[in-house]
Amino acid sequence: RRVLVLNGPNLGRLGRRQPEVYGSETLADVAARCTALAADLGVQVEFRQTDSEAQMLGWVHDAADERVPVVINPGAWTHTSVALRDACAELSAGLVELHISNVHAREPFRRHSYLSDIATGVIAGLGTRGYDLALRWLAERER
Ligand code: DQA
Repeated sequence: RRVLVLNGPNLGRLGRRQPEVYGSETLADVAARCTALAADLGVQVEFRQTDSEAQMLGWVHDAADERVPVVINPGAWTHTSVALRDACAELSAGLVELHISNVHAREPFRRHSYLSDIATGVIAGLGTRGYDLALRWLAERER
């Protein structure tokens, strides 16, 4: 049983990027934690990040073809990308939209998401712990 954890633009900067908003953990730290947790949960996690929208769309297409559940932090594409929405609309095995920050408590443009209404569920504002929670939920659901 596989789960994909996909991260969009600028998330490779985690730890250095606005730590007051996103915390001090790096994406590598989060990936390591998720990998360890996944082993406990008996799922295989593939943790990825890209600043390229084409790359992200390709990963989502593959997940759709392979019916793999997806956790996605789409970063700024959340608020801009109809293309990402269209790709995600094809996913059939579960989609968790995840934001480290509480996007509803920030600038107004972050309140709108192109993904939320097609996601199975949304996590926002729980910091990098949100990744663990999303994984646990998907693993339980896969059983
Ligand atoms: C984010 C929130 C987005 O608005 C922002 O563009 C990001 C990160 C989050 O994890 O809180 O890059 O998705």
